[in-house]
Amino acid sequence: MTETLHPVYLDCDTGIDDALALGHLLASPIAELVGVGTVHGNIDAAGAAENTLRLLNLAGRSGDNAVPVAVGAGKPLVGEFSGGAVAVHGDDGIGGVRASLPEADAAPDTEDTEDSVDLLVRLSHEYAGELQILAIGPLTNLAHALVRDPTLVDRIAGVTVMGGAALVPGNARPAAEANIWHDPEAAQATVAASWPVTLVPLDTTMEHTLDETYRRRLAEAASPYARACGEMLDVYLNFYETVVLGRRAAALHDPLAAAIMLGEVALLDAPRVHVEVDCTDGPSRGSTVCDLRSQRKAPGDVPGATVRVVLETAPGYVDLLTELLESL
Ligand code: RIB
Ligand code: CA
Repeated sequence: MTETLHPVYLDCDTGIDDALALGHLLASPIAELVGVGTVHGNIDAAGAAENTLRLLNLAGRSGDNAVPVAVGAGKPLVGEFSGGAVAVHGDDGIGGVRASLPEADAAPDTEDTEDSVDLLVRLSHEYAGELQILAIGPLTNLAHALVRDPTLVDRIAGVTVMGGAALVPGNARPAAEANIWHDPEAAQATVAASWPVTLVPLDTTMEHTLDETYRRRLAEAASPYARACGEMLDVYLNFYETVVLGRRAAALHDPLAAAIMLGEVALLDAPRVHVEVDCTDGPSRGSTVCDLRSQRKAPGDVPGATVRVVLETAPGYVDLLTELLESL
């Protein structure tokens, strides 16, 4: 997918790597960000909208140039808001930089005006057959949208989800990745719907990291957006150093999904297979069960399967991301 301009609806829980994904979309010459919905996850849905609006403002996307931002689900289909990922993304979700960003000049839309589901449904009519959904938080808004308008699936060009772990350990739980863990029932509804889904799991995202050298480069860039990313990444790298990897480098989960959606990273192994999400209450709740048995004998797409699972990509994405953020 290259050259044409792709209209994108972004569904996010604006934490640090979500901010990188937002920056990628804003800077990419082949993406047109037409709306953002926020969801519980790294932070509460209203806080995610506040972060998004401030970041958009920082990138010059306010006033006449604004992108609509709507608050979505505050809690999963089953249970309550987890309280957020403070240890990973900081109290404000974006590594403590929120207060230093310019205040948003508009409030987000809410259920009193247009919530994220209404926004998505409206955009699906405006861009029927073309709209790409990039979902980089829990999938609660998508699940609500599928119920509110079951015809939605027919107007969506593709759904790219950062989430899951096919053949590698989870992160939020031993077998579950955070976005799926925070709403397994919504994730199951998303992968079971008859729209084309591309799942970008930890198998791939943990292979694309940004280290201290790149972080410093961003922190010293001319672009205010890149500098804010460099600053917030300090918190993210601290977490990865102390808890995840033992070195100052962090996974580019959400921005990598943006790049894959836009066809900017080559897929080396990405079969369409049947996927189910474990919605039981056992130790593997929230795990993504990808049926890869066929791949031993006949690697490739399974007839009738609608979920492409990205298991391996070409390396080098961190360079593209850094250049895009510097250009903002
Ligand atoms: O597991 C990684 C995902 O969880 C990313 O979307 C990150 O922002 C966190 O929410
Ligand atoms: Ca996210």
